[in-house]
Amino acid sequence: MTLTIKNLGAPLGAEISGIDLSGPITSSAVETIEGVWRDRLVIVFHDQKLSDPQLIAFSKYFGELDAPGPNPYGQPFLKDHPELNVISNVVENGKPIGNLGDGEAVWHADMTYVEVPPKAAMLHSLEVPPPEAGGNTYFSNMFVAYETLPADLKKAAEGKLAVHDASANSAGMLRKGYKEVTDVRLTVGAHHPLIRTEPGTGRKALFLGRRPNAYVLGMEVTESEALLDALWAHATQPRFTLCHRWKVGDLLMWNNLSVLHRRDPFDPKTRRIMHRSQIKGSEGVH
Ligand code: SIN
Repeated sequence: MTLTIKNLGAPLGAEISGIDLSGPITSSAVETIEGVWRDRLVIVFHDQKLSDPQLIAFSKYFGELDAPGPNPYGQPFLKDHPELNVISNVVENGKPIGNLGDGEAVWHADMTYVEVPPKAAMLHSLEVPPPEAGGNTYFSNMFVAYETLPADLKKAAEGKLAVHDASANSAGMLRKGYKEVTDVRLTVGAHHPLIRTEPGTGRKALFLGRRPNAYVLGMEVTESEALLDALWAHATQPRFTLCHRWKVGDLLMWNNLSVLHRRDPFDPKTRRIMHRSQIKGSEGVH
């Protein structure tokens, strides 16, 4: 197997070809993939056909799996593989087979409402709508967002902690067991710095997690809203982003602490099914 790596025309993202992810891979391939994941933050593999056990086996090359967060229905979508999540709008026998429906999934990073969020996520497409029906996924580079931040915003964000809401998913659906947030000062979820430092390299990145119900600790609510709005407007500019247009068999692997992602809504009359894993982080966010 000879791996080919092609950087995509955005400030993040690379395509890796020449590898079949459904079987064992060599330690040198794992090292190469890890390096690209660290440098380019999002990896796109095309034409992969993985069963659930194969997706789990591939994911485990990069660490221990992190179980999905609670979904609105209170039960894992895959009974035999509760460590995997399903992202889908398909309803079978009156029951959704997956999470997030067909609406927009707003900009977010995964599970930042826990103390140690997952470091990586994999999303494997099994069925996708036709290209004109929507459902593209976007990623934004949080290192570049930090590095280009105007000096006044950098100063305002320095040393501040924000709360990351645990109550709702990125489609705005309330998770089972949580109440609607009516006052952001009472938002339930982990507290993380607005600016994190990558261990090993010392490079800094914005760490925003999710906008709804976020609050900068110790600030007046109006001040907190203004600071968060300004940081989010900066961090999600098209010049920092990659757009992925899905084909069946794509597998995307992203660096969860260093990117934000969002998904366009898509035509509810079409089917979209993706299976997803995530890899445990090794430490809190500093
Ligand atoms: C997600 O936010 O993890 C799902 C992205 C997608 O459906 O493309």
